[in-house]
Amino acid sequence: MNNSNIPVIAVDGPSASGKGTVAQLVADALGFSYLDSGALYRVVAFAAKQDDIAWSDAEAVATCAKTLDIQFKNDQVYLNGNDISEQIRTEEMGQGASQVAVHAPLRAALVDLQHHFRKAPGLVADGRDMGTVIFPDAELKIFLTASTPTRAERRYKQLIGKSLPANYDDILLDLQERDARDKGRASAPLMMAADAMLLETDHLTITEAVNTILKNYEHKKLNKKS
Ligand code: DC
Repeated sequence: MNNSNIPVIAVDGPSASGKGTVAQLVADALGFSYLDSGALYRVVAFAAKQDDIAWSDAEAVATCAKTLDIQFKNDQVYLNGNDISEQIRTEEMGQGASQVAVHAPLRAALVDLQHHFRKAPGLVADGRDMGTVIFPDAELKIFLTASTPTRAERRYKQLIGKSLPANYDDILLDLQERDARDKGRASAPLMMAADAMLLETDHLTITEAVNTILKNYEHKKLNKKS
C-alpha cells in the first residue's frame, strides 16, 4: 500500500519534554491519528521483564517483540489483550525502554508496525527517530525540547500529581542518563533532523506549543499548494 501522500507530523525530542501531550493535542485538533512510539519500546521492556529476558540481550528482545500483540485503543495500551497502560508508565519501564531501544534488531522489528499508523487523514508521530528514520518524508518535523531542569521539574510535578513517589534529584539523574543513552546509541540516535524546526518549550505553555505547530503545519500546506 502506498500511503506516502498521507501527511505526517513528526514530533521528536528528549524524555519529559512534553512532546506526548503536545503531539496528542495537535492530533486531536487536526483529527489525525496519534502514534506514541515510546510506548512500543516500553511494552517491549515490560514483556521482556515478564519473560525473564535481559534488556541487554539484543536478539532475545527482538525475538520477543515479534511475538507480541500490541494494540492502542482509546488512549490505552494493550499487550496480548491485557490493558498495561499504567504498568508501562513507571520510571523503571522508561529506563527499560531506553535500554532495549539501543538494539538495532529490535528497532528493525518495530518499523512496519509504526508505518501502519499512517492512515488518512494524517498522523502525528511522537518519539526519537520519527523525522530521521521512520517517517523521513514527514510534512512537518518538530524537535521539541526543554532544558534538563525544566524537564525534571515537569516530571516531578506529574508524579506528585498522580500521588506517586518522586525525588527531584533522582529524576534529574535519571533524565541525564536516559538522554545520554538515547543520544549516544549507534542505531537511530535521538537527534534533530536537518529539516526539523526546533521548538524550545521552557517558556511556552502547552497551548502555545500546540498552536505554534498548528500554525507551521498550515503554513507548510499553503506553501505546498502555491
Ligand atoms: O517517549 P518515552 O519516554 O515513552 O520513550 C521511552 C524510551 O523509548 C526512550 O528513552 C527511548 C526509547 N524510544 C526510542 O528509542 N525511539 C522512539 N521513537 C521512542 C522512544
